[in-house]
Amino acid sequence: MTPHLLSVDQLDRDAIDELFAIAQRMEPIARRRKICRVLEGAVLGNLFFEASTRTRISFNVAFCRLGGSVCDTTGFTFSSMAKGESLTDTSRVLGGYCDALVMRHPDLGSVAEFASAVNVPVINGGDGPGEHPSQALLDLYTIEREFERIQRPLAGAHILMTGDLKYGRTVHSLIKLLSLHEPMHITLVAPTGLEMPTPLLDLVADRGHRLELRDSLDEVFEPIDVIYATRIQKERFTEEMIESFKGISDEFIVNRAFLDRRCTPGTIVMHPLPRDGRPGANDLSTDLNGDPRLAIFRQTDNGIPVRMAIFAKLMGIEADFDRDLRDVGWRVPEAIGVDDARF
Ligand code: CP
Repeated sequence: MTPHLLSVDQLDRDAIDELFAIAQRMEPIARRRKICRVLEGAVLGNLFFEASTRTRISFNVAFCRLGGSVCDTTGFTFSSMAKGESLTDTSRVLGGYCDALVMRHPDLGSVAEFASAVNVPVINGGDGPGEHPSQALLDLYTIEREFERIQRPLAGAHILMTGDLKYGRTVHSLIKLLSLHEPMHITLVAPTGLEMPTPLLDLVADRGHRLELRDSLDEVFEPIDVIYATRIQKERFTEEMIESFKGISDEFIVNRAFLDRRCTPGTIVMHPLPRDGRPGANDLSTDLNGDPRLAIFRQTDNGIPVRMAIFAKLMGIEADFDRDLRDVGWRVPEAIGVDDARF
């Protein structure tokens, strides 16, 4: 891995397997069974210039659970970029203060520009409609763990991606990672104007996967192993698109009725979150809450060991971070959520 994590293009299968093996070793720390202080003295700068709950907090928590400390800033208002400071000046300054940096920014390519001026590791926490590599890694880690749990091979699996495939950066990164696997069947269902960019379709086809494009969920007839639903990213729409957008119709809603019609007891339902719960949004339905096939919170939980593994690899602690672990001294619930499935 290069000193920064900016795009999943930097990773091949061996690098991903190595990262996931580190993430598995991180599990006792991430699941609050063990305490680790390997990053004691290290400071993370966490800079989020776009809204975030999961990515910002989970990078923060991952660093703290390895013993480090975190300084963070959110939004442009309280950053000197509001006074015209460049991305590269900002990164050079922060590189002098911090041992690693995570940044989310609304502009495509901005995190790579930020990283170009500094030698401390920079992680892309999302650059506009570009990429979200740590999310794709935790998504793939979740898919692999879920397939292990149901004792099925990932090779040949049928993966359905639906929602905003144009602006949803998580699907851009995830489809690249999936394309590195043995051949799969990938079906894409997106509203008109929100389809997956053509270069990504070409990449998947060139790597030997079976690719299908459908106009509605009910046009998907073969059993589905993984549904990956995404939110409509209206914040990235142009004025013209906002005016003409009529909303998401019923043919794109992933809910219990769709699972009953088209899926099996082994189907895994994922979403990068947040899911838009506002009336008319028609995002992934809450009527699936409590259904063990809904893996969205197993997915968010997996964000911690995967992000710890990214820090371990970028900061050179992967060999022996687990040498001096201690037991935690407080009570941790067996299941975190009240609806969590017991397997
Ligand atoms: N999945 C994800 O990126 O969530 P946040 O926007 O809350 O960070």
